[in-house]
Amino acid sequence: MTTTTNPQATYAGAALDSTYPSLRNLPVFVTGGGGGIGAAIVSAFVEQGARVAFVDVAEDASRALAQQLHDAGHAAPWWRTCDVRDVAALQAAIQDAAAVLGDFSALVNNVASDDRHTLESVTPEYYDQRMAINERPAFFAIQSVVPGMRRLGGGSIINLGSTGWQTKGTGYPCYAIAKSSVNGLTRGLAKSLGQDRIRINTVSPGWVMTERQVQLWLDAEGEANLQRTQCLPDKILPADIARMVLFLASSDGAMCTAQEFKVDAGWA
Ligand SMILES: NC(=O)c1ccc[n+]([C@@H]2O[C@H](COP(=O)([O-])OP(=O)(O)OC[C@H]3O[C@@H](n4cnc5c(N)ncnc54)[C@H](O)[C@@H]3O)[C@@H](O)[C@H]2O)c1
Repeated sequence: MTTTTNPQATYAGAALDSTYPSLRNLPVFVTGGGGGIGAAIVSAFVEQGARVAFVDVAEDASRALAQQLHDAGHAAPWWRTCDVRDVAALQAAIQDAAAVLGDFSALVNNVASDDRHTLESVTPEYYDQRMAINERPAFFAIQSVVPGMRRLGGGSIINLGSTGWQTKGTGYPCYAIAKSSVNGLTRGLAKSLGQDRIRINTVSPGWVMTERQVQLWLDAEGEANLQRTQCLPDKILPADIARMVLFLASSDGAMCTAQEFKVDAGWA
């Protein structure tokens, strides 16, 4: 089993093409927002003028991201160091952030860890830890935000899935199990939440060039695989995932719910 470190946040502007007036002043909560795709999602919402809160276990990266957004002239996001394996701490962070920013109109369940492991090496404890990061937080974050969304008369929940298990990716069977359950979470809640105009969707990235992915996995074989399997030749960047997330959180996504939206350059 390998445990890997997280990258430092580096904010260079999300540089999205679209502006969504409906996102201005919208309270948004993002899990795992201090690095990788989460940081791009946080940055993109902040650039749209949304009122953003995020949690992340990586304190330095989170502080750096908030500072960089502030230095770029944006409102600094609310953030807290929080290990999402601690459900009580996650739910307390959501409640505390809502007390400052208002009931959340959008929730982005982004946090995950794709640490590598083999079938043989996994113990029951390790299995439970993988689910505690990759599966359980989304459910309990939803449980926390839904009463506020009901008060608002609606909301948008976006669960980050993955095309990794769909393309039979190897080296992370527990991650694959957890990620395949994201569609079940989305589909299993869509009808009941929809009665209150709360939309819930899955966004499944392909292989996204986060700092972590580039440092750990983008070798010559990975490059060749990418060129062979993607339909589009260009690499997917974190901002490409943020584009889809913004659309689904905005009023332009008003009639989208219960679906999986892949941003994978045609890989899966
Ligand atoms: N990068 C890809 O190629 C890719 C592909 C498919 C799906 N995804 C999905 O996109 C989402 C984001 O992935 P990423 O590549 O940006 O991941 P990442 O590892 O680069 O970033 C994850 C963030 O979550 C934080 N985090 C990790 N464990 C935590 C914990 N216990 N408590 C709180 N925060 C914690 C990390 O510090 C980091 O900031 C995930 O849901 C992932 O499954 C990513």
